[in-house]
Amino acid sequence: VGSNPTLSAILIPGAGTIIKKARQVPLVLAGFGHVGKAFCGLLQEKDELLRKHYGLALKLQAVLKSDGGFISDSGITPKGFPDRPGQNTARSPLWKPGQTLEAVLKTVKPGVLVECTPSNVQTGEPGLGHLRAALRGGWHVVTANKGPLAVDFKGLRDLAQANHLVLKYSAATAAALPTIDVGLYSLAGAEIISIEGILNGTTNYILTRMGEGAEYKEALREAQDQGIAEHNPALDVEGWDTAVKLLLIANSVLGLDLTLQDIKVEGITQITSGLLEKAKQEEKTLKLIGRMTQAPGRWKAEVSPMSVESTHPLFGVSRTNKGITFWTDTMGAVTVTGGKSDPRGAAAALLKDIIHIFCIPNATTSFRL
Ligand SMILES: NC(=O)c1ccc[n+]([C@@H]2O[C@H](COP(=O)([O-])OP(=O)(O)OC[C@H]3O[C@@H](n4cnc5c(N)ncnc54)[C@H](OP(=O)(O)O)[C@@H]3O)[C@@H](O)[C@H]2O)c1
Repeated sequence: VGSNPTLSAILIPGAGTIIKKARQVPLVLAGFGHVGKAFCGLLQEKDELLRKHYGLALKLQAVLKSDGGFISDSGITPKGFPDRPGQNTARSPLWKPGQTLEAVLKTVKPGVLVECTPSNVQTGEPGLGHLRAALRGGWHVVTANKGPLAVDFKGLRDLAQANHLVLKYSAATAAALPTIDVGLYSLAGAEIISIEGILNGTTNYILTRMGEGAEYKEALREAQDQGIAEHNPALDVEGWDTAVKLLLIANSVLGLDLTLQDIKVEGITQITSGLLEKAKQEEKTLKLIGRMTQAPGRWKAEVSPMSVESTHPLFGVSRTNKGITFWTDTMGAVTVTGGKSDPRGAAAALLKDIIHIFCIPNATTSFRL
């Protein structure tokens, strides 16, 4: 990595010092599945660090599921959650059946909405309604859910800016792998000439296994058996997951207003192990790349399997790993790889976004500093 993305050491006023009085920030969490639960666990695990080093006391006031929510004025402590295996949600005194996020947002003093409901890139719902209600009601938003942003990126960004609120979505772009942060802050002053990313772990795993001799169907089944690929892997293998992430990164870092219709998308379903073997003989490999390049007067956005030379910074990014390279005029090629993309990694990215909202002045989604 050419420029160091460890923002906390450079930009966060509180980092490295002990802050005595912590600022109380109300949180409401929508979605209590894999990511939502991991986020609650992190709140507990990192409570002391957040108070001491960032001056933040994050107070979880409500947790919403599809059929109701846990609500508490005094704050919900993660260890008090009744939603453990064998326990009945409805038995919790905090459980309010039928409670909706929209209703909760009106009763709690605004802080940050943490959105972790399922991604639907066709309708954006239920997240789209959640994000709009939060931004209209004075809440900052951090989201792991890419659906609403895929459907109405510009509308949501404009709504946040009009209300002087921050909308952040690191967890929706590549979970713990820093992509937008690097483009926004670490490359300040450099011109970004192009961007290339391996942004989907499932397809990278399948292509890696095919490069080792497995056929497509065999590699896909293996990925499903290991819980890497969804039961319905269409969004991943047809390239749409990569396309949405590319859209979010490009719109944020390059200040564009791309929609999914502007991206040429081709997945990996037509790739054979023979093609990977041929690439190997030429000391290359095939990767599903999301790429932004400059055509005369405009940016060109595409997702497709591309031949990658052995000297390319993303050549060695294999299995479920992801990576992104920014090609710049003054800083050369800046590459970031790795970062957990499981629920804990996504939860950590949500927490990072919250810290940035309160600890980096003027932290927005669409300006390069
Ligand atoms: N899993 C990962 O590693 C990962 C990584 C990065 C990003 N993401 C994204 O993070 C989001 C959450 O993923 P996940 O794996 O945690 O999903 P999940 O396990 O399916 O959990 C989804 C949660 O959302 C709740 N929900 C559904 N509709 C709702 C509504 N209308 N109001 C309130 N809550 C509602 C569900 O409620 P019930 O409990 O009642 O069903 C469930 O608790 C997705 O958008 C995903 O794409 C996931």
